[in-house]
Amino acid sequence: MNEPRMLVIGSNGQLGTDLCREARRGGYDVREIDYPDIDLADRRSVERRVAESGAAYVINCAAYTAVDDCETNRERAFALNADGPGAVAAAAASIGARMVHISTDYVFDGCKAEPYDENDPPNPQSVYGKSKLAGERNVAASCENHQIFRIAWLYGLHGSNFVFTIRSLAEKNAASGGAITVVNDQFGSPTSTREVCRQVLHVLPTGLAGVFHATCEGWCTWFDFTKEIVAAAGIPVEVRPCTSAEFPRPAPRPKNSILENERLKRAGMAVMTDWKSAFREFLRDEADVGEETCTK
Ligand SMILES: NC(=O)c1ccc[n+]([C@@H]2O[C@H](COP(=O)([O-])OP(=O)(O)OC[C@H]3O[C@@H](n4cnc5c(N)ncnc54)[C@H](OP(=O)(O)O)[C@@H]3O)[C@@H](O)[C@H]2O)c1
Repeated sequence: MNEPRMLVIGSNGQLGTDLCREARRGGYDVREIDYPDIDLADRRSVERRVAESGAAYVINCAAYTAVDDCETNRERAFALNADGPGAVAAAAASIGARMVHISTDYVFDGCKAEPYDENDPPNPQSVYGKSKLAGERNVAASCENHQIFRIAWLYGLHGSNFVFTIRSLAEKNAASGGAITVVNDQFGSPTSTREVCRQVLHVLPTGLAGVFHATCEGWCTWFDFTKEIVAAAGIPVEVRPCTSAEFPRPAPRPKNSILENERLKRAGMAVMTDWKSAFREFLRDEADVGEETCTK
């Protein structure tokens, strides 16, 4: 029997790398592509690459993810995060493929006192969030057969992310006897790439369509997550809490980034574990990779 073919766009990114590996393990015939072999800002390149893939599933993990840079590069943010995904979706529709797209908690303003579900109206505050919301809408308008997963606070083995940033900062400051200060008034759910892959691959072959929240269960602040990261790494550094006002950034961050995976739960399709278990699995994966590297 032929394996279903999948095209993963953004295959060298943090999520794309793991999705390619997990999808292969799951029996898919995975075709990888990333910039410059495909350019989301170039509609013709997107159309050509998607058409020649002959894929049954087109998964877009590519994006302009530098949240603060988006504030000063609005045009590029919309080209890559809004128009690009729309072009991918139209190309997927033209070959009869299902379009899967990854979105973000930044589509919300973060003012709600409870977790956001899929029925809550988006109200993005940053250019990044606005461009990602426009991307969701373009995907939905261009390919009826679509699944959009909103994820948040992503980390994985590949690429730069909060875990690696905190570790290197903690090591540096521990060496000089300093502390690290981390915001304690933004709430969200640290979510591993492994868990996102598990959820996406679980839903992919079903007839479910539309927008899904897909983050790890439970929540914490960046300060709480930092304490876990530093303790797991055994770095002797003091971690101090601060407010977002004390740590201003060019792009506003939602205070409440907690997403409820409501639709997946209602459909009996939610498989994501709690954030602490996912983080322990990430540490085990990291140790395994380290061992493989050492024995080579
Ligand atoms: N990271 C998070 O915390 C987070 C949170 C919520 C949602 N998300 C969403 O999750 C998805 C995956 O994020 P990630 O962290 O895996 O992103 P990432 O590591 O930044 O990967 C993005 C990929 O897109 C590629 N890319 C950039 N410009 C491109 C272009 N013009 N044409 C084609 N490809 C291009 C990048 O290639 P280069 O490396 O060559 O630029 C990279 O391989 C994105 O949709 C993001 O918005 C992420």
